[in-house]
Amino acid sequence: MAEELKKAKPGAGKKEKYELLMEQMRHLTDSKADVIANLSNCIAALHETMGFLWTGVYYVKENEGKEELMLGPFQGPVACTRIGYGKGVCGAAWLQREPILVDDVEKFPGHIACSSRSRSEIVLPLFRENRVFMVLDADSENISNFDQVDLFYLKQIARLIEDLH
Ligand code: SME
Repeated sequence: MAEELKKAKPGAGKKEKYELLMEQMRHLTDSKADVIANLSNCIAALHETMGFLWTGVYYVKENEGKEELMLGPFQGPVACTRIGYGKGVCGAAWLQREPILVDDVEKFPGHIACSSRSRSEIVLPLFRENRVFMVLDADSENISNFDQVDLFYLKQIARLIEDLH
């Protein structure tokens, strides 16, 4: 496993940063480590490379007889620990089974503000046996930070995380 991430040159575009990250991502996973260890490093690498405000996952978990999203490995400010089905951007991506890009979190009805610094957000559902079992969430301090380039690469990272499980 690589000990330090290779960083793109200052001024590099997001595509270049993601490309460099993807090259390294595969080497970040250690076949003898468990899923939390490998996932934690993948999240840290994504967070550090892209400079997001918050990067992490929520797992679908049964709690007191009903399923909800439970906070998993993440980087960034402390976050809400549990999110209901259909609630916030994360719960909506779980319900809709589709990625959601939010240009301005203040315009998303029901957005859950874990950090007042968050301005835009992207959430992708992850699947196991055709069921959403996790969501990948990234927040930015900039309005309209996320676009089709992020979606393209985050989908690849989502598939990689699915394969860890
Ligand atoms: N904003 C999310 C909550 C999770 S945090 O951003 C880490 C939402 O509306 O679901």
